[in-house]
Amino acid sequence: MDDLVGKLTWDAFQHEWTQNIAVVSMVLGGIAVAALLTYLKRWKWLWNEWLTSVDPKRIGIMYMIVIILMFTKGFADALLMRMQQATAVGDSLGLLSAEHFQEIFSAHGTTMIFFVGMGVVFGLANLIVPLQIGARDVAYPFLNALGFWLFAVAGTLSLISLGVGRFSTAGWLAYPPLSSIEYSPGEGGR
Ligand code: HEM
Repeated sequence: MDDLVGKLTWDAFQHEWTQNIAVVSMVLGGIAVAALLTYLKRWKWLWNEWLTSVDPKRIGIMYMIVIILMFTKGFADALLMRMQQATAVGDSLGLLSAEHFQEIFSAHGTTMIFFVGMGVVFGLANLIVPLQIGARDVAYPFLNALGFWLFAVAGTLSLISLGVGRFSTAGWLAYPPLSSIEYSPGEGGR
């Protein structure tokens, strides 16, 4: 079993209640979308028209959808940071533990820069550049679609880290020694 799961233990699934609410709402949201697609019999349409499309207009729109989802997540992180700062006064330690605050801080920066800021640039480029130069598509349509899907999967992996394991506590820049693996999480980095 150890060979299969490596360092993965039940500990990786234990989180604070604030995070559990986020995980449960994310899973329920995913189930609701899947149920809606099944109810409307839209899976085939989704696969043929969108998921396998290399059309830059469609890829641009898919970027925008991923960006809106990731911005919502980054915004929730920002609200939690501000709530912590508002409630950790006097003797109160606030809503979150110190380590969880650092995770949220890092997740906010990483999400906003890599999955919102950069996504806006790629998405707008897909929507606008072919129109500007009067071309029917970008130079390498499949590579462009692959780029989008790597972006979307990377965003999804960062969301999965809400439920499995922990996020980095080293900030979005991940400077060593904060990001060094020699630090244990309790010491402020990993
Ligand atoms: C939606 C409204 C937003 C709010 C309320 C917000 C709030 C915050 C707060 C409270 C911090 C921690 C600052 C500190 O304690 O020094 C922070 C950090 C940061 N924010 Fe935002 N933010 C927002 C949007 C954005 C956007 C749109 C971006 C980028 C596209 C962004 C990028 C960052 C980055 C890169 C950091 C530093 C994270 C790190 O050092 O790891 N934020 N934000």
